[in-house]
Amino acid sequence: MYALGFLADPQRVLKSSASKIGTLNAQRRGSDGGVRLHAALSAKRHKGFGTNGGLRRMPEREVFTAEDAVLEVERLQRPPSTMLWSPIKDFNFTLIIPSTVYPPREDTNLLAKRIIALGPGRGRKFLEIGCGSGALCVLASYMGWIVSGCDINPFAVAATGGNLSASGFRGEIKEGGIGPDRFPFEEKFDLIIWNLPYVDPGEISEVLGPMEEAALIDSDDQGLGNRMIRSIVSNQLLSPQGRILILGRESSIDDTNYLAHRTWDEIEFDDGEKIVLTCLWRPYEGAENHFVESTGSTNEDLFAKSGVGTHISSSWQTSGRGRHKRNWTSIEGCYAGSWIVAEGSEINPGHLQLSGGLAVLNSLRYERLVLKWPNDIMIDGRKACGVLVEGRTTDEGTRAVLGIGINLKSGNHDVDVEIASLDELITIEHAEIDRRLNCELASLLEYRDDIPPVRHSEVKLQIIEKMKSMGRPQFQGEVYETFSLNERGELLLGGKTIDDGEEVQWI
Ligand code: BTN
Repeated sequence: MYALGFLADPQRVLKSSASKIGTLNAQRRGSDGGVRLHAALSAKRHKGFGTNGGLRRMPEREVFTAEDAVLEVERLQRPPSTMLWSPIKDFNFTLIIPSTVYPPREDTNLLAKRIIALGPGRGRKFLEIGCGSGALCVLASYMGWIVSGCDINPFAVAATGGNLSASGFRGEIKEGGIGPDRFPFEEKFDLIIWNLPYVDPGEISEVLGPMEEAALIDSDDQGLGNRMIRSIVSNQLLSPQGRILILGRESSIDDTNYLAHRTWDEIEFDDGEKIVLTCLWRPYEGAENHFVESTGSTNEDLFAKSGVGTHISSSWQTSGRGRHKRNWTSIEGCYAGSWIVAEGSEINPGHLQLSGGLAVLNSLRYERLVLKWPNDIMIDGRKACGVLVEGRTTDEGTRAVLGIGINLKSGNHDVDVEIASLDELITIEHAEIDRRLNCELASLLEYRDDIPPVRHSEVKLQIIEKMKSMGRPQFQGEVYETFSLNERGELLLGGKTIDDGEEVQWI
């Protein structure tokens, strides 16, 4: 047993951190004037918290007033508790949890299981943002990572440092976090994790002290997950091949700063709310990536190359290819991009093709952009984009190349079909759409041992949802109210399986 010596003078600590937390909360609250300090804790967080006796509903007023400081000191004078933490069988850690510090719970355990599943740290660098009691830092040290952590609550910093040394480990633990102040670390990390404060300020129930609240409530107007990713990218904190794990609400990240992203695990609470563990990584890291002003066909170019993720984009093709051996004509302001998306024997061209369409929609997110099965993206019934997957087998094996052609600009195009262009919705540069597509394709298709596996059935459901915007399929004169897709991406209508989009109208 050890003593958290510096709990002896909570007033001193509060002085140093009160303004910090106040600033952070004020900044998170953004435009509404920032007075809802005492927001909610949802039941799931509240349950069994154990350290927050004497809660009371606070009026809406200034952030962290003198009265709050007095209450906070009272809270801090409560003795710390000791707990035995066992995230999974045979992993047991004794932790001391000071008042105001978040103890490990079900969400912590989810992250713990994932850290354990990642295997030995082998001296790689681990950073936990919002380290709380230090449970995950202790676990990561045990797994062989070199551990750093930070928390805006100085009691969490003390708890993490204390719990690490009581378990025979060391770490660099600092006060601070993602907020207005300079981020407390500058080096690069191989694994960065954050169990986000995910309680919504709108869920009003009872109150915690400012420190507990700062650890639990995401009142950032941009979302703390988004802010975290931006901060990691701008401070260049992620090592080559580094991974970020963020645990938060399903909707807590909507801007990944061009990092690929995929759900790894999830917990569903009794009230139906879902907390998801998202993994982020650099898309197709290390793969060749070129832009050429002009070429014959970017798909063809890639058959001379190898390596999943290898990518070429161009703004002019002289022999662009479309489906059914048709030409894909370059027009002014066109985007042409191709990726090697699979190599080997287990290739599913239908799934790849549909994922290409979904990647376009995920890169742009406009309701007027609609997926017409199997490979067209339409605006108001006119084609703006096409996807072509081609495979070729050589002595080296089979390779699948996915190509995406997009009309970025309208103009006088000498083509005999009515076309649409993205500038009807957005003005977007070639380089920007290229980075977004690279990120979304990797999110849907990339395989690596240390990223979450592709959830094929979920991707299929997302594609079906997108297809519904085209209306109902009509095939051989019959209109179908419902439809589905099989594992090969073929359209299922009643008992019929259709593999060619030309035979289907959408009404
Ligand atoms: C279609 O709708 O028929 C599919 C068109 C696919 C065109 C793209 S542009 C990039 C890549 N290179 C090609 O030669 N074709 C694809």
